Amino acid sequence: MSPDQRLLFSPLSIGKLTLKGRLYKTATSETRASEDGFVTDELLAFYEPIAAAGTPLIVTGNLYVTVAGKSTYRMCGADNPDKIPGLARWADLVHSHNGALFGQINHCGRQVMARAMGLTSAVSASDVREKVMGTKPRPLSTSEIKDTVAAYAQSAEICQKAGFDGVQLHAGHGYLVNQFLTPYTNRRTDAYGGSFMKRLRFLLEIYWAVRERCGADFPVILKLNGADALPGRHGLSGPELTNVARILESEGLDAVEITVGHYESGFPMIRGTFDEFFKGLMEEGIGGQLPWLQRTGVKAFGPAMAAGFNLLWPPREGFNLAHAARFKKALNIPVICVGGFLSGDAMEDAIRSGRCDAVSSARAMIADPQLFRHVREGVKGPQCDFCNACIARAGRLPVDCYNKKVKEG
Ligand SMILES: Cc1cc2nc3c(=O)[nH]c(=O)nc-3n(C[C@H](O)[C@H](O)[C@H](O)COP(=O)(O)O)c2cc1C
Repeated sequence: MSPDQRLLFSPLSIGKLTLKGRLYKTATSETRASEDGFVTDELLAFYEPIAAAGTPLIVTGNLYVTVAGKSTYRMCGADNPDKIPGLARWADLVHSHNGALFGQINHCGRQVMARAMGLTSAVSASDVREKVMGTKPRPLSTSEIKDTVAAYAQSAEICQKAGFDGVQLHAGHGYLVNQFLTPYTNRRTDAYGGSFMKRLRFLLEIYWAVRERCGADFPVILKLNGADALPGRHGLSGPELTNVARILESEGLDAVEITVGHYESGFPMIRGTFDEFFKGLMEEGIGGQLPWLQRTGVKAFGPAMAAGFNLLWPPREGFNLAHAARFKKALNIPVICVGGFLSGDAMEDAIRSGRCDAVSSARAMIADPQLFRHVREGVKGPQCDFCNACIARAGRLPVDCYNKKVKEG
């Protein structure tokens, strides 16, 4: 099939923005900003080949909306207007290759290494301990919720002023918005907890505040779990998740990207293999900063855990497609599906079968920054094997492919 016949290379509109194709770079935290969250040359160098390959849409790694929501080292921020000139260089780079750039704005809530980040305490919807980082958060007060909502709005406006083409609100992966949505992490009894509509209120207020600041025409999209994947705990149900998207759509949301899981879910979010993950985490990643119990557990049982997880969450192309298809049935706005995409055939089939409108990629594009061009031209580039060596080093070393065999072909 020629590129012209493939849906993957047909245009897609997200709000008033028309994208020249349907394979996007999804968010990957860069660990390439300066320690105080400014854009660096090193950060731009990561995006140059992805943009130059013609990738129609690039979503930044999560940008913190306030320092209290910064999860790890060298994360980029959109928390203060003094970041605008650096962010503008990022937008200019992508625009110089005719692509579009969305800022993923986020507050990590309880999923933070509070001590390593110099925070006295982490915040969340409620005081439910996060078991991976070992962080016991305190609940946000009502006035702090209002401040956080305002921080999201300011952050979106910062992205807009920097020339970004849109923003993505991160409502998945167990970060703060997800912590408010999920009954397991939200035990509040005030206006922000309890019923589904009360748990949704924080996200709705953020969305309204962003719209008020950035206007109706500025593309605003959501990254949302298709499943919370919290067995034995009270996660969001499938119908609740589609309802989140449906309600936001009725408020003017422009698109949704479907993912899966919280940190506490294990690894449905990054299905693959885990031998290199645990090794990399302890030797070069943030493993050394984990609390004693987690660190000792990984040191003692890493290989056994990897063997188990390899069986539980093996790699699979389009592993969130069943979730995305549910959203596709419920919504009229574009549904983007992330998860395991590697080959042009699988991407094309995902769209052609009607389970999503577009696909996005993290690890395959880290391994092969020219993935978009290679798929378009039918050229085989470096092939990600989903070893998770990249994410093992996230937050400690610059994002890159750390698999020698893949890098050196
Ligand atoms: C190094 C790395 C960093 C990531 N950082 C983010 C992030 O900042 N925001 C986000 O929504 N997802 C993040 N993710 C998750 C990806 O966006 C994506 O949901 C997941 O990797 C599955 O897609 P894939 O199979 O194409 O890798 C990250 C993944 C990797 C590998």
